[in-house]
Amino acid sequence: MEDPRTGRVRVAVLISGAGSNMAALIDAARAADCPFEVALVLSNKPDAGGLTVAEGKGVPVAAVDHRPFGKDREAHERAVDAILNEHRVEVVALAGYMRLLTPWLVQRWEGRMLNIHPSLLPKYPGLDTHARALAAGDLEAGCTVHLVTEGVDEGPILAQATVPMLPDDTSNSLAQRVLTAEHALYPRALADFCRAQMRSL
Ligand code: GAR
Repeated sequence: MEDPRTGRVRVAVLISGAGSNMAALIDAARAADCPFEVALVLSNKPDAGGLTVAEGKGVPVAAVDHRPFGKDREAHERAVDAILNEHRVEVVALAGYMRLLTPWLVQRWEGRMLNIHPSLLPKYPGLDTHARALAAGDLEAGCTVHLVTEGVDEGPILAQATVPMLPDDTSNSLAQRVLTAEHALYPRALADFCRAQMRSL
C-alpha cells in the first residue's frame, strides 16, 4: 500500500463539521517523513466549515449530502465510496464524521478505516462523552483512535491519550482540552498505522 509516485499512503478524511482534527492531519502530512498524504476531504454536509478549511490548505474536497438519500444509508455510502475510489484512497480516517455506518461500508474498508472518539474507550461510546465522564466523577478523560468495526466505537484500539479532569471542568472546557489532545494523537496514530501497513506489504 502507498502511492508509487509519492511513497505515501493516500488517506481520505471524512468530516461533518469544523474539521479541526482533519486540519491537524493535513498539517502533519506536510512533514517530509510523514507516511501519509491527505488525498481527499469528504463531508456528508455540503456546508461543513471544514471543507473551506481543507480547500484553503489546497486539499481536494467533496460533499455527498446524505439528505437526498433519505433512509437509504447504503445508497449514500455507495456514492461516498465511488468518490473514494475515484481519488484512489487507500485508508479512510473518520474525524467528526457524524454518521452511523452500515455493515456494507464497514466491510468494504475493513482494516483500513480509523476513527477518533472523544473518550477513553471502552468508556462512553456514542455521544455526550464529556458530560458522562463528568457525571461519573472520573479523574481523567481522553480520546481514542480505533479501527472501525460494525459495533459503534467498538473496534480495536490503536492509541489513546489521557487528559486530567480539573475541579471546575464543564463539558465545554473538557471538550476543548480533549480536542487539543486529539490533534496530537490522531496524526501520530495514523502515521504509525500507515507505516505498519507499508511494512506489511
Ligand atoms: C472530535 O472531538 C471527535 O473526536 C468527535 O467529534 C469532534 C470533531 O471535531 N467525534 C465523535 O464524537 C465521533 N463519535 P472536529 O470536527 O473539530 O475534528
